[in-house]
Amino acid sequence: MKRIIPITAGVALAAACHQVSSQPGVPFQGNIGPMLDGAGSRWDEAQLRGIVANAKITFPDTMMPSFYKTSGYIRPGDAFTGKAGTEPLPPLLTAQEIEDIVAYLLTLTE
Ligand code: HEM
Repeated sequence: MKRIIPITAGVALAAACHQVSSQPGVPFQGNIGPMLDGAGSRWDEAQLRGIVANAKITFPDTMMPSFYKTSGYIRPGDAFTGKAGTEPLPPLLTAQEIEDIVAYLLTLTE
């Protein structure tokens, strides 16, 4: 079943570290990362998809999670089992969720 993430869920995930001034309804917006206002003008669609899917490709030293990374982890764990995880691991977000977030970021042109 296709899981639709409403705009707020995607924004809430980003707001843990980023401010989005067009979303005053999302509380406690973080400032570890830059404001996302204008991200849709600073980056094109492919660049935004790359940043959300695996931010370390664009920002090698970033603490931003890689939301569509399934391998290349260092000693990944298997959820909360205490056991080692086996790659490929499920990505943090589905491809559709990444696309929904990229579509939203492209609207942040100011
Ligand atoms: C769905 C969730 C997220 C989205 C859509 C998102 C999006 C972005 C975008 C578009 C940029 C480039 C900003 C610019 O220069 O214009 C960025 C950078 C950054 N993000 Fe995120 N982000 C998300 C989650 C997070 C989280 C959870 C963290 C913190 C753990 C984070 C930390 C950062 C940092 C630190 C940068 C600056 C790059 C650097 O490390 O130098 N992001 N993010």
